[in-house]
Amino acid sequence: MENNVTHIAIGSNADIVEARQKGRAMAVELGLTGSDLTLVAAAISEIARNIVDHAESGEIVVSHIVQDDRRGIRVIAKDKGPGIKDIFKAMLYGYSTGTGLGVGLPGAKWLMDEFEIETRIGVGTTVTMKKWLPKQKH
Ligand SMILES: Nc1ncnc2c1ncn2[C@@H]1O[C@H](COP(=O)(O)OP(=O)(O)OP(=O)(O)O)[C@@H](O)[C@H]1O
Ligand SMILES: [Mg+2]
Repeated sequence: MENNVTHIAIGSNADIVEARQKGRAMAVELGLTGSDLTLVAAAISEIARNIVDHAESGEIVVSHIVQDDRRGIRVIAKDKGPGIKDIFKAMLYGYSTGTGLGVGLPGAKWLMDEFEIETRIGVGTTVTMKKWLPKQKH
């Protein structure tokens, strides 16, 4: 089940800021608080930056999701860029094919509860990540 969806087209630094802000607002609406909001915003920022840096343009879709008895936020980042040749290396802390530090992908994985990446050379890359709302105390 899913509802409350926000799409952000990504092609510039301004779009990265917009994705970060809209993603954070969706996390607030879901009920996330405190440092969780910063973690979600930072992960969205890194994944959006990767689109601009490595694929030029793409799209981010942020949704509220319900799975079993959990509610959460899902971020899907999609591009039709060059794809990632060696996904194992790309997920290593400190690995970059460019001039970056190589911390974006492993950092985003660490910040979120779930992280998946699908990539095909010459076709593009899709990153899907989720953060669950902590169980409410009664
Ligand atoms: N959307 C993408 N399309 C194509 N290649 C990508 C994409 N995202 C990441 N990569 C590849 O994976 C590598 C690792 O990404 P990661 O975000 O960890 O580091 P970086 O972007 O190089 O540096 P940093 O994020 O620290 O500025 C990149 O150098 C790039 O080769
Ligand atoms: Mg990066």
